[in-house]
Amino acid sequence: TPQQPSICGLPLKYVSLVTLAVQNAALSIVMHYSRVSIPASQAYSPASAVLLNELLKGLISFFIALLNSPILSSQHPQHHHYVHHPSSHPLTRHRRSGLYNHISRCCWAFTELCNQVFSPDCWKLSIPAILYVIQNSLQFVAISNLPVATFQVTYQMKILTTAAFSVALLRKKLTLAKWLSLFFLAIGVGIVQIQTTVGSSTPSSYKHGSSSDAVGSAHDYNVHVMNPMKGFGAVIAACFTSGLAGVYFEMVLKGSKADLWVRNVQLSLFSLIPAILPVIYANSNSSDPSAGIFGNLLRNFGGWAWATVLIQVFGGLITAVVIKYSDNILKGFATSLSIVLSFLASVALFDFSITPSFIIGAGTVLTATWMYNQPAPPSPTVHSSTASP
Ligand code: C5P
Repeated sequence: TPQQPSICGLPLKYVSLVTLAVQNAALSIVMHYSRVSIPASQAYSPASAVLLNELLKGLISFFIALLNSPILSSQHPQHHHYVHHPSSHPLTRHRRSGLYNHISRCCWAFTELCNQVFSPDCWKLSIPAILYVIQNSLQFVAISNLPVATFQVTYQMKILTTAAFSVALLRKKLTLAKWLSLFFLAIGVGIVQIQTTVGSSTPSSYKHGSSSDAVGSAHDYNVHVMNPMKGFGAVIAACFTSGLAGVYFEMVLKGSKADLWVRNVQLSLFSLIPAILPVIYANSNSSDPSAGIFGNLLRNFGGWAWATVLIQVFGGLITAVVIKYSDNILKGFATSLSIVLSFLASVALFDFSITPSFIIGAGTVLTATWMYNQPAPPSPTVHSSTASP
């Protein structure tokens, strides 16, 4: 069982679930705005965003893994290690102190970490890595072709795909009550979203446009034509890759003792291969191939594009923590609650009015969440293996 760390006295499990809910709401809005508010000729490349996401996430995970290394930890003095492995390191022969000692330990921790990253079982991460790159690319197609609210509701189908893959791959046994609560969760999210979608005929992101807007004139917004069928196809495919990749990652993570951050570095490393290929392809078809891959990589990459990538990187890191300390199904509940939260924020910030259908939808989501988290009744044959918070 993983140890349960806390932040400011609050269990990391709950802090990470709430943070993920807020991150999810922010990502859909910023990503949609970054795509549809810019004329097609000035759009950034989603392939670049996917690649930068993996690069940054990998580097940050590597850095966290390095900081977590017992070699650098003061609670783990070097001599503990030397007692067990007296000849394993040159420092055993000389007592060093100060800066030299520190640099030596950093190099040692770095080498140890590289050994862990390139461990014989690292290939296991190649499957979720490829699936996540496909999912992250599909997400761009979906969000560029659907209004934010419609995207959010359809994307909630991943709750059901995740539950199905958890049962199939992780052998989780869900009681009938848990299946019913998952079903009500999906229905509740649908009710909240239908009212949001019907309630606003114009997607909110278009309303920010004005001729003085730095991202383009109101006329430019019409240049981006949305194709809802393409958007729906992409979002449904993304639900399948999300469920499978998340459950596969959980299986690898919980099936071995390897550190979460080392697993994340392995995930990012394997993602680099499928993520860089579309960038190379786009570069070879570019109007200015002489700019080189990296010249074209950051073409049209403005503030909104960077904001999208940074929120995605943050989301990836939080998702990994949630999968480790909770599980993929609870992750689904957190993201559903984010829809209720973002609606309530709209009421507070933008004078949206609360309608009966919102109350019914939000009530269904909250009741489903409560129902899912009820302990399973004692039964000799059916046990829920899902972690109860
Ligand atoms: O929507 P869903 O929760 O499936 O999205 C997961 C996101 O988190 C993906 O963008 C994926 O790249 C990212 N992720 C990550 N590292 C993990 C697990 C997921 O970056 N260990």
